[in-house]
Parts: sequence; C-alpha cells; structure tokens
Amino acid sequence: MKKSIHPLWFSLGIAIAIPVGYSLSVAAEESTSDQSRRDRIVVEALMRLDDVDVNADPKLSQAVHRYLNQLNNDPSQLKVIQKLKISGLSDKLVDLAVSWGANTQSVQAMDLAIDQGSLPSLTNALMAKVPDERSLAIAKVLTLSNRKDVHEALRSLIENADVSKVIKVDAAVGLARNKAMHGKLIEFAKSNQLPADALTLIGATLRNSEDAAIKSAANELFPALKTSQTQLPPLEILIKKNGNAANGKALYNGVATCSQCHMVGTEGKNVGPGLTEIGSKLSKDAIYVSILAPSAGISHNYESFAVRTDDDETIIGLMVSDTAESVTIKDAKGIERTIPRKNLEEIKKQEKSLMPENLQETMNEQGLVDLVEYLMTLKKS
Ligand code: HEC
Repeated sequence: MKKSIHPLWFSLGIAIAIPVGYSLSVAAEESTSDQSRRDRIVVEALMRLDDVDVNADPKLSQAVHRYLNQLNNDPSQLKVIQKLKISGLSDKLVDLAVSWGANTQSVQAMDLAIDQGSLPSLTNALMAKVPDERSLAIAKVLTLSNRKDVHEALRSLIENADVSKVIKVDAAVGLARNKAMHGKLIEFAKSNQLPADALTLIGATLRNSEDAAIKSAANELFPALKTSQTQLPPLEILIKKNGNAANGKALYNGVATCSQCHMVGTEGKNVGPGLTEIGSKLSKDAIYVSILAPSAGISHNYESFAVRTDDDETIIGLMVSDTAESVTIKDAKGIERTIPRKNLEEIKKQEKSLMPENLQETMNEQGLVDLVEYLMTLKKS
C-alpha cells in the first residue's frame, strides 16, 4: 500500500530543500488563516538547520515570536529560544522561570535571561526593602544558579545593608553552592551580616567542607544543634526502640528534607531512589545505616559525580546522560544541567553519596526513631 505524505511534512521538506533564507522568509510572509501552522513549520525547519541568523531576518523573527507567544508558558519553547538564539526575550524568560518555580527549566530560562543581560535589573529588583512576590520567586531561582556572575550578584546583596532578610537568606543559600564563596560566608557570619535562618540553612554545608579552616570556623560559628552520631546509642539498641510513624512522616516531609530528594507514591522529588516500598526492600538496620552513613553503600546507578567546566564551575550530582556531545548531571536539588563536552574539564566519580551526611542532626534521637518507624510502614501492598 502506498502511503500519502502529510502536507505538513511536504512543506517542511520544501522549506529545508530550497535555499534557507529565501524559502523560510516566503513561508513566514504568507499571511493566511492558518498562519500559526505555517509559523510552526518555519520553526520546525529552523530547528533542523544550523547558522540561520533569525534575529537578523525580521520576517523569520516575527514568525518565531508569534509561535512562541502561542505557547504561553509551555516549557518546550526553551529549546527554540536556545537553539535559535532569539534575542529580546529577557523579560519573558524571567516570567517563565518564575511561573515554573524551582526546577531545571526555570534555571535554564533564568540563565538565558541573564545571557541576554538581565542580571543587573534582577539584582535591582531584589534590593527592594519589602520584596514583592515576583522578587521572592526570582530569588528562589537564582539560589539554584551555578553561575559566577550570579554568585557575585548574591554577594553584593548580602553586603547591602538595605536588602531584606528573606532575600539575604536565599542569597546565602545560593553562595553556599559555590566552594569559592565559603570563606566569604564565614566572614559574613563573623561580622553578623547573615540572618539567623541563613546560618541554620548553610551550617551543615560549611561544617562538611573539605577545607579544614572553613570546617573549624563553621563548627565554631554555627555548631550542629542536635543528634550527632557519637551521642546516639549503638544500632542494636536503636532498632529495638518504638517510634511514632505519624511524627516520623512529618519529619520526613519537613525539617529532615527527605521529600526534597525521594518520592513516596507520587509525592516528593525524584533525585534519590523512590522509597514507596522501602519497608519491604530494606531491614530496619539497613534503613538506619542509609540515614546515618549514606556513603556506606551507595545504591547502584546513584553514584555521584563532580563535573568541572572550563569556566571552573563544579557541579556535583547524579549522571543522567553521557553522550558524545554532552554530559547531563542532576544536582541535589533535582536541577539537571547539560554541559557540552567541549566545555568539560574533568569528571570525577565521588566517594560520597549525594545524600547529605548528618541528616539526623535535624532531629533528636526520638525523631530519628520515629522517622525509621515511618519508613518501615512503607511496604509493598
Ligand atoms: C540531597 C538529596 C537527598 C536527601 C535530602 C535525602 N536523600 Fe536519601 N538518598 C539520596 C540518594 C542520591 C540516594 C542513593 C545513593 C545512596 O544510596 O547513597 C539515597 C538513598 C537513600 C536510601 C537507600 C534507598 C535504597 O533503595 O537503597 C534511603 C533509605 C534513604 N536515602 C532515605 C532518606 C531519608 C530518610 C532522608 C531524610 C532523612 C533522605 N534519604 C534524604 C538522596 C537524598
């Protein structure tokens, strides 16, 4: 049986076959009732081509803008903006990032907006004495950035006495992602420039620093509050204790931050392995060990890697994909970053799990027992 060619593929074929600038401009020019279909064909064709300067061709550029407008806040438009290097979209990109919350796409959109020059205006927005909702959302996305220029901007926010406390907390959390800024954070803490909440949030990161000076300063300035391992009874005693699963669940979703990396059913984030049936998979001892010593037995496929770029950024996370063109890493916040091979300096497998050590310090001993009690209730149905 002979297959007929769908008209869309036919026009797309022509759009690619005929010399680019000419045929695409013609397609973009025709203004018929099905213009949106044509816009899509133009974009689809452009996406398959390299080196077309869309911004320099008003007709092409208009077609792409019309196409993007139709997509409202659909994340698929990021690829188009990235690939075609569409300029003049920094405000739209910030709006998209804000509407998506804190995820991979919003970080990418914010990066693109910053590439288009919006960092000064973003920083300005965060300086308001009483930040509005949009600024708060912007700060949440910026704290996830690995960019040096963003870290410089965050540093300037902490140094500015007029900036609100909430924004300073986010700025400090963002800076803690960058080892090169740890010394600066210690200085800020010493000179009382960091709000108390920020100290709690970044304390564990700095106390776990590989740099001995940072580590000891952090232990002094913001000591671990609760259950250090040495104070806990031995495992054989812990496993005999009974806990309150409801309280454990609250800790799991709250201060212990487990749900920020693990899914139970459809809730939580998908960074570490799902825990929906963990009570059937692991014994009580093994669950304690997973929490108290995450690096002792790292689950298969969840090894952590440190990737250094030619810009001297280090990204630590799980390997999502590794191809001839690029490497994609998912960090502890679940944000995926793709680094082209040409910008890759080094990939090193880590000894440590991506799961933080000392999470038991976020609760007391009974809390830990409650948490494990809760995990033991998560069984195969
Ligand atoms: C920053 C992300 C992160 C946080 C926060 C986190 N985990 Fe994990 N967790 C992981 C990763 C990644 C692994 C897999 C690597 C490993 O085994 O260490 C893991 C492994 C585990 C495992 C072993 C799972 C298996 O199938 O073998 C358990 C159990 C676990 N986590 C429980 C918890 C609990 C309870 C908390 C909260 C106290 C928590 N995790 C917080 C990332 C996280």
